[in-house]
Amino acid sequence: MLDGKVVVITGAGGGIGRDIALMAGAHGAKVVVNDIGASLDGRGKDSEPAEGVAEEIRNAGGTAVVSLDSVVDTDGAQNIIRVAVDAFGCVDGIVNNAGILRDAFFHKMTDEEWDRVLKVHLYGSYNVSRAAAPVFKQQQTGSLVHMTSTSGLVGNIAQANYSAAKLGIVGLSKSIALDMQRFGVRSNCIAPFAWSRMISSIKVDSPEQQERVARLQQMTPAKVAPLAIYLLSDHARAVTGQIFCVRNNEIFLFSQPRPVRSVQRQDGWTPEGIADHAMPALSASFHRMEVSADVFSWDPV
Ligand SMILES: NC(=O)c1ccc[n+]([C@@H]2O[C@H](COP(=O)([O-])OP(=O)(O)OC[C@H]3O[C@@H](n4cnc5c(N)ncnc54)[C@H](O)[C@@H]3O)[C@@H](O)[C@H]2O)c1
Repeated sequence: MLDGKVVVITGAGGGIGRDIALMAGAHGAKVVVNDIGASLDGRGKDSEPAEGVAEEIRNAGGTAVVSLDSVVDTDGAQNIIRVAVDAFGCVDGIVNNAGILRDAFFHKMTDEEWDRVLKVHLYGSYNVSRAAAPVFKQQQTGSLVHMTSTSGLVGNIAQANYSAAKLGIVGLSKSIALDMQRFGVRSNCIAPFAWSRMISSIKVDSPEQQERVARLQQMTPAKVAPLAIYLLSDHARAVTGQIFCVRNNEIFLFSQPRPVRSVQRQDGWTPEGIADHAMPALSASFHRMEVSADVFSWDPV
């Protein structure tokens, strides 16, 4: 699927990124395994995770180099792309997968918790995509795959920072898809479900949530990799601006916000008119206050 292609996978030292990197290597890609080796909350650095995955790819007969730069700053992102170009001459695909969690209920969230999560997910995805954009434009080809989350697409408790970042990534992806379509560049999102250390930090404060976590444990990160590999490949040349979701053996196409109902008055609206007429009409189509688990309410297949 990826013979000869150069792909960069951020946060590939563990979890979902690791499995995408391994599968990319097995499908003939030259892989840049990027990871700073941080803890779940983004603290610390360790070269071992990225080096270990690169070694696994090489031991399996593939080609891989390591990048230990952080996606958080522009210089780090430029370095990640430079590593790919220096080692392999070009970049064909990027998986913006690096991530951290700093969960807290909104009324208790600190500025730092907000800032760090936005920096790694939203700025990280922007930084690496932006650094690759000139290379993609010059080549007239390129595929971006960004990891979003049902925490942003649907909602989740104690994750305002993460939800905002992940929905921001959806807007970023669509904008790149629109702006760079003329250069043959594609951009898509995946909302994965996988049992990784990231899930283990989900706040569990009810028996229902405990049960949900038990179900999530059945889903391995490897289940997410095939869709990412497909989206990086030329087989997906007509696929852009989409949001997919993978949950064990299920693949979903997500909706994107569109008007669902409208009301109009010839003589315009007053606040009273909105209360008496507009809201009673629109409320028939209000969305429920759902979290991700309410929408994905059946056991993973
Ligand atoms: N696991 C799930 O069910 C799930 C659900 C929804 C979304 N996601 C998303 O999928 C992606 C992968 O998640 P995971 O579950 O494999 O998590 P993970 O914690 O196992 O892996 C994330 C990796 O990112 C690396 N990283 C952190 N900060 C970095 C930085 N600044 N620069 C480079 N690397 C950095 C970490 O060292 C780690 O190896 C994340 O974007 C996450 O938000 C995961």
